Amino acid sequence: MLRDGHGRKVNYLRVSVTQRCNFRCQYCMPEKPFSWVPKENLLSFEELFLFIKICIDEGVDKIRITGGEPLLRNGLSGFIKMISDYKSGLDIALTTNGYLLSDLAQELKDAGLIRINVSLDTLRHDVAKKIAGKDVLTKVLDGISRAQEVGLGVKINNVPLKHVNSDEIIEILEYCKKRDMSIRFIEYMENRYAKDKIQGMSEEEIKKVIATKYKFVEIKRESSSPSKLYELENGYQFGIINPHAHDFCEDCNRIRLTAEGVLIPCLYFEEAMNIKKAVQNGNIIEATKILKEVLKNKPEKNRWSTDENNEISNRAFYETGG
Ligand code: 5AD
Ligand code: SF4
Repeated sequence: MLRDGHGRKVNYLRVSVTQRCNFRCQYCMPEKPFSWVPKENLLSFEELFLFIKICIDEGVDKIRITGGEPLLRNGLSGFIKMISDYKSGLDIALTTNGYLLSDLAQELKDAGLIRINVSLDTLRHDVAKKIAGKDVLTKVLDGISRAQEVGLGVKINNVPLKHVNSDEIIEILEYCKKRDMSIRFIEYMENRYAKDKIQGMSEEEIKKVIATKYKFVEIKRESSSPSKLYELENGYQFGIINPHAHDFCEDCNRIRLTAEGVLIPCLYFEEAMNIKKAVQNGNIIEATKILKEVLKNKPEKNRWSTDENNEISNRAFYETGG
């Protein structure tokens, strides 16, 4: 079992397979980046897999594929199959904006994918267009339905923004409840790439809105989940992710790998190392050494939750997969 420098067990690897995205979400990538990382700088699926195998052999049993938008990368189902064939019982998940999901859901499921998280910030076409930069809602909703049909577990991520989609919190909660999907509201995390002037909602503000219609209580969350869990009187559970909270990092169990091979110990932090050379040389010993070094330097807390939390992140979410 891997442990970081603070004694926390690390069994969860998030792998971003591309930084590209077909959306331009206001809170993430309102403009196309000045330049994308050239495709030749990306690690191949074989190279990513070599590192993933090392992590699995060291005890990682949860793997999440992220982006950018991971479904933009050709051959993704084959990559997922490589991972699921390597060891049975792995929890393999994917985070997607859902736009390309309806056509791919079945093959992803067949490849061994267990669960997906889909970003759904609104149920209104005009608001979706405003947030994502194009009219995406019909395809996203189709993707969600299809994923449920083929038997993937589906969770919804929602980032409430003041004056944008904050008036839909209850509607979207009810939409998810009706379809038996859980939803996690995520506090907006400040970063340099987001559109100026967007304002997120705090956990307290989100709870206040839900409390206008429903009674709910906080329940014990799953260990290592970044989400606080709440339960309505009718038994439906929803989550709120509050990275600004002081206890957010206490049982953090994750590390992140970007599509270029940068191994990042914590969302916010710059302390990262590159495994690219090691995996391209097939050097398992060196790659393992880098993994342990990065774990040793994993910070105790993210910077949104510390006292300097007026700082904002330099690292783009579309590189690290949120
Ligand atoms: N703050 C909060 N959540 C974000 N996401 C992307 N950027 C941000 C941000 N700045 C969310 C997306 C997606 C998940 C991967 O991260 O909505 O659901
Ligand atoms: Fe793309 Fe996701 Fe960023 Fe939106 S939040 S621009 S869907 S990577």
